[in-house]
Amino acid sequence: IFDSQRVLSIQSHVVSGYAGNKAATFPLQTLGYDVDVLNILQFSNHTGYPSWGGKRIPPEEIQDLFDGLKKNGLMDEYTHILTGYIGNAATLETCVKAIREIKERRKDVIYVCDPVMGDDGSLYVSSEVIPLYRSIAGLADVITPNQTEAEALANTKIETLADAQETIQHLHQLGAPHVVITSVHLPQQDIPKQLIVNPNSDKALVCIGSSILENGQTKQFLVSFPTFQGYFTGTGDMFSALVVARLTEQLKTANESGDHLSPLAQAILKVVLTLNAVTEKTWKRQKEYVKLQKGEEAADIEGKPDSAKLIRQCELMVIQGKQAIENPHLFTRDEIK
Ligand code: ATP
Ligand code: PLP
Ligand code: MG
Ligand code: NA
Ligand code: MG
Repeated sequence: IFDSQRVLSIQSHVVSGYAGNKAATFPLQTLGYDVDVLNILQFSNHTGYPSWGGKRIPPEEIQDLFDGLKKNGLMDEYTHILTGYIGNAATLETCVKAIREIKERRKDVIYVCDPVMGDDGSLYVSSEVIPLYRSIAGLADVITPNQTEAEALANTKIETLADAQETIQHLHQLGAPHVVITSVHLPQQDIPKQLIVNPNSDKALVCIGSSILENGQTKQFLVSFPTFQGYFTGTGDMFSALVVARLTEQLKTANESGDHLSPLAQAILKVVLTLNAVTEKTWKRQKEYVKLQKGEEAADIEGKPDSAKLIRQCELMVIQGKQAIENPHLFTRDEIK
């Protein structure tokens, strides 16, 4: 009877704006998924603003929610699990226990784990969370760390493409069959020339992924994309949500396509195209707002804005990005210029 695709999405909730579950739910629903939203905390707005209200939900109350679902057999309905920012070690342990139970009952459940711990070189969670994420990697089908998170999990420092590739191997060794480092800064000379889309900067922001194939070998890929000089929140959360839908779709059609790209590479290409359209839209709004404020041709936003009003204009345009979610557009090099 239940032939629906149902995701259990465990992340934070913001009343206003788009981060955590607010950034993940609409894209998943748009792509045809039922989304069961489990909020780990409820804040008025994301923590990039000067202030916020709201509370974390204590681990016992999270356990209570799992118990309620379990008593009604609702935990058996999940075809997919997505986890994002959880933060607290005790809460993470509670969630892992529930995820383990779901996975033991149904081996074909796809679990996408975004090990949200930090960004731009520093961690915003306690370091006791690192070993927990290392031990979950084997439960996950895909992990989607950013550069900082990948370095923390693998205990490496990524400066070159070779460093990134070695880091990915470490992450596979933790047990994850698919690994995606959602954004990495690499020197341009490490990137094939035809992939460079930002000739003006000496460091390119790229996304790197890798899958363990059936023969045990790993197949890696790199996606280069235009970057916008703006302030974004929720990009990682929207990214991992889209991975759920796009990887599922690619795994289903993999045998028919005969393409030289792996299912993960095909999926990530679509995800990056959607994210790029959404970040571009958002970046244009940011600039438009600054222009209105300053009454001149506005410069790009550098670093974190300090006014709540400007940060509000930087909220990811998830809803307005509906078309790009449904139909990621593969643009040509001419369009990129
Ligand atoms: P967070 O931890 O803040 O949730 P993240 O660090 O996990 O996010 P990122 O790697 O920063 O996630 O971003 C995810 C994706 O969003 C990137 O792969 C890219 O496609 C897109 N993206 C992020 N920042 C930019 C940018 N400045 N310009 C263009 N695309 C961007
Ligand atoms: N959840 C909350 C409450 C946040 O404040 C943030 C970021 O500020 C996030 C999630 C994650 O957003 P991002 O995808 O940019 O890491
Ligand atoms: Mg980031
Ligand atoms: Na990420
Ligand atoms: Mg993230």
